[in-house]
Amino acid sequence: MSPPAPGRTGTGFPPGFLWGAATSAYQVEGSPLADGAGASNWHRFSHQAGRIADGATGDVACDHYRRWPDDVALMRRLGLTAYRFSISWSRVLPPGRGRPNQAGLDFYRRLVEALLAAGITPSATLYHWDLPAALDDRGGWVDPDSAGRFADYAEICFRALPDVPLWATLNEPWVVTDGGYLHGVHAPGHASAAEAARAAHNLLRAHAFGVEAYRATAPAAAAAGGGIGVVVNIEPKHPASDRPADRDAATRADAYMNRHFLEPLLLGSYPEELAGIYGEAWSPDFEAEAPGLAEPIDWLGINYYTRSVVRHDPTAWAGAAPVPQAGRLHTELDWEVYPPGLEETLRRVAGDYPSVPLYVTENGAAFADPETAPPGGVDDPLRVAYLRDHLRALAGAIAAGADVRGYFAWSLLDNFEWAHGTSKRFGIVHVDFATQQRTPKASARFYAEVIRSHGAAIDD
Ligand code: FCB
Repeated sequence: MSPPAPGRTGTGFPPGFLWGAATSAYQVEGSPLADGAGASNWHRFSHQAGRIADGATGDVACDHYRRWPDDVALMRRLGLTAYRFSISWSRVLPPGRGRPNQAGLDFYRRLVEALLAAGITPSATLYHWDLPAALDDRGGWVDPDSAGRFADYAEICFRALPDVPLWATLNEPWVVTDGGYLHGVHAPGHASAAEAARAAHNLLRAHAFGVEAYRATAPAAAAAGGGIGVVVNIEPKHPASDRPADRDAATRADAYMNRHFLEPLLLGSYPEELAGIYGEAWSPDFEAEAPGLAEPIDWLGINYYTRSVVRHDPTAWAGAAPVPQAGRLHTELDWEVYPPGLEETLRRVAGDYPSVPLYVTENGAAFADPETAPPGGVDDPLRVAYLRDHLRALAGAIAAGADVRGYFAWSLLDNFEWAHGTSKRFGIVHVDFATQQRTPKASARFYAEVIRSHGAAIDD
C-alpha cells in the first residue's frame, strides 16, 4: 500500500458503521462472587499484596453488575450504536467447566436484551483476561486442555446468548502472555519464557476451537449476518535510526508483539523470528500445529493505543529496547500519543493479510481527571483531541480502502485498569468511585456529536 494519504475527512464512514464503546467484565462489573460465581485469576491476583499499584481490587469496580440498567440508559443517551463487553467465564462456569451457573448467564442475557431494546448492537468477548481460578490451579493457559475447556465454555455462551451478533474469542492474547506469563505484572504473575510461549500457543488453539464451536452451534446467528472474530493489540514498531541493527530490532519487536498473533490467526504460520526470540522455550510442535490456528474468522478486532520506537539492544527481550520519545505528548500510562499509527496499522493489516472486515475494538487514553467530578463537569481536552485525531486517522485508512466496520472507544467508564487499579482513568464517562456517580466528560459529549453526525464532527 502507498504511504498514508493526507486527506482524512469525517464524511467517509460507511453506512452502518458502528459507533461503540468498550469495557470488560473484571474492570467494570464488581460483585465478582455474587450469585454463585467462582473466583477468577484476577480476583485472586488483585487481592495479593503489592500486585495493584493503588491496592484497588475489582470487588466493586464500577458496580456495573448492579447498575447495568442505568449504564445502558447512559449509552443510549450518548447515542452509541454498539457496546463491546466481555463475559466472565467464572460467572458462567464457577469451576471453569461442568454445569453452567444459570444466574451468571442470566446477567448477560438481561444485558443483551436491554442493549437490543435500546438499539445498541452487543459485541461479546469471551475471554478478556479473567480465567476461572480453578483452571489457573490446573496450569492456566500453559495447560493444553485449557483450549478445549474454552471451547466448551464458548459453546455454552453461544447457546445462551443467540442474539449477540458479534462475538470475539479472545482479547489481546499478547498481553495475556507477555504481562501474565513472561513479566508477571498481570495475573497469574508468572515470569517464564517457556510458559509464555506455551500459553500463547494454547490461547491460539483455544481461539480456533472456539471458532469451530461457533460454526457448529450458531449457524442461525451467522446466517443473520453475525459473526465471530478475535481482538489483537497492534503497536507499530519503528526503528530509532536507519542503522541495519535498529531496523532488525524493529522487525523482531514486530514479530514478537504483532505478527506472533496476526500470522497464525490469518496465515496459519508463526513468524520465523520467534524461535530466536524464545530460544529453548520455543517448540517445533507450535509450528507443526500452526496451520490449524487459522480457522476462518468473520472479522478481526484491532486495539490501538500507541507505537513504540526501538533500538538494537542484545540485553533486551527480543533484542529491542524502547527509546523514549522526549518532547512528544504521552498519556498517564506513558504511552506516546501517535495517531498516524492507527492509519498505518489498519492499512498494513488490510494490505498484508487475507481480506477480513476490521473493527477498531479499543482506542482511547488515560489522562489525569479529578477523582470527584467538579460541578461544571469534567473537561478533558487532551482526550477529546486524542479521539478526534485517531478518528481522523481511521477515516484516512477507510479512504485508502481498508474495510473498517466500526470503532469502539476505550472506555465507556473510568474503571479498574488492571495493575494500575483505579488510578488511571480511560473513561469518556467519569466514575466517582466513592459514590459510583457517572458524569459524561467533554470527550463523551464530543463523541456523541461524532455519532450524531456519523463522523462529520471530526472535521470541526
Ligand atoms: C487494553 C486492554 C483493556 C484496557 C486498555 C487500556 O490492553 O484490552 O482492558 O486495559 O488496554
